[in-house]
Amino acid sequence: MKASENKATLSFSNGGQNVELPIYKGTLGPDVIDIRKLYAQTGMFTYDPGFMSTASCESAITYIDGDKGELLYRGYPIEQLATNCDFLETCHLLLYGELPDEAKKTNFTKLVTNHTMVNEQMQFFLRGFRRDAHPMAIMTGLVGALSAFYHDSTDINNPKHREIAAIRLIAKMPTLVAMAYKYTVGQPYMYPKNELSYAGNFLHMMFATPCEEYKVSPVLERALDRIFILHADHEQNASTSTVRLCGSSGTNPFAAIAAGVACLWGPAHGGANEAALNMLYDIQKAGGVEKIGEFIKQVKDKNSNVKLMGFGHRVYKNYDPRAKLMQETCKEVLGELGLENDPLFKLAMALEKIALEDEYFVSRKLYPNVDFYSGIVQRAIGIPVPLFTAIFALARTVGWIAQLNEMIGDPDYKIGRPRQLFEGSAKRDVKPIAQR
Ligand code: ACO
Repeated sequence: MKASENKATLSFSNGGQNVELPIYKGTLGPDVIDIRKLYAQTGMFTYDPGFMSTASCESAITYIDGDKGELLYRGYPIEQLATNCDFLETCHLLLYGELPDEAKKTNFTKLVTNHTMVNEQMQFFLRGFRRDAHPMAIMTGLVGALSAFYHDSTDINNPKHREIAAIRLIAKMPTLVAMAYKYTVGQPYMYPKNELSYAGNFLHMMFATPCEEYKVSPVLERALDRIFILHADHEQNASTSTVRLCGSSGTNPFAAIAAGVACLWGPAHGGANEAALNMLYDIQKAGGVEKIGEFIKQVKDKNSNVKLMGFGHRVYKNYDPRAKLMQETCKEVLGELGLENDPLFKLAMALEKIALEDEYFVSRKLYPNVDFYSGIVQRAIGIPVPLFTAIFALARTVGWIAQLNEMIGDPDYKIGRPRQLFEGSAKRDVKPIAQR
């Protein structure tokens, strides 16, 4: 960490002694005030529920400038990665810090491809679930179950073990998501086909059957690959912070990623693409474009609890750069499938236009996020709505594991242990049951 010449001074209105706090500078973004010694010096904690002003770690992986609407993976703008690289190159970048050259790309692709199969026992695991279980419930269970299979790579202090766990996770997530899907529709599982690309293989495992030849459409393959790139990492978001906190106890890496999957499921996070598409369906059912005004009115009514799903972001106070790329992909996919007049896409465009002009959204800097269009793309590809968040989990796995490995590789890392402001009862005595 690079110390700034500036220091912060904390003073107290009751005349308590001032405390000088060091300030550190990153490469980009706001400086941070180091409060690690605050408790020892003052007997006080800081209070910041929801981490509104707290940097929880140092990281060199992803940077977001929320005001500019900029997203960088290891310094590279997301727009350049999404147009010039594929997902496995992006994985290499996130894991190792650099884009691969031809030879490294070939080796890395081979390495990941060699791990795409899952242990045959996983099928029996799946059978324990109800057929109508939510895919994220299944994924939380399956990813957690991986921790019971790979006893050769559980020493998190060994960088080689960490690397092999990362490769296994990246390689096996598409297989598991496709198995979860096949299980819910009652079709046979399709084994991975290693001659296909990462995204192509996933499409094959999802939509092929043993009865017929399945040809991967290059447009859909590229669209899915882009969805994976756009979702690969996103700084210290809720699920990534969950993975770091969970992993900080030294737990099994597969178990830490399962915790990330569980966190991602929520509608305020990864569940938003599912929620955004369901919202569009609801407006469509209620009457479509003509009903947008009524819907926006409900969104603005604080008592209604209705949100414009796929809008707003904790960090972006400008257009989410991923949403722009997703809108582009959306047009391409709908064109390929002859769905240019898709009513949901039209509805989404009309809703976006109205919201972007409305004072409520403008004043709160609420813009579309990546989930606003990703649901329409996935639905067009044929991915069922409940599986959307599982696709997000598949893509985010590389970010989670890169962040986890970055944390564990830091010799100074500590178990995460937040403090609290206690507001419950002071100490009291238990009364006999008859007197309570
Ligand atoms: N629709 C309507 N109003 C909204 C929305 C929305 N989608 N998002 C925020 N607001 C309003 C809030 O009501 C609040 O208004 P107020 O100041 O009058 O009280 C103001 O905008 C600020 O919102 P916060 O909830 O304080 O913002 P926060 O940073 O905590 O929330 C979040 C961010 C959770 C993403 C929120 O915008 C949201 O719920 N959006 C919808 C769900 C969604 O799309 N999530 C996906 C996030 S991206 C991802 O995970 C890939």
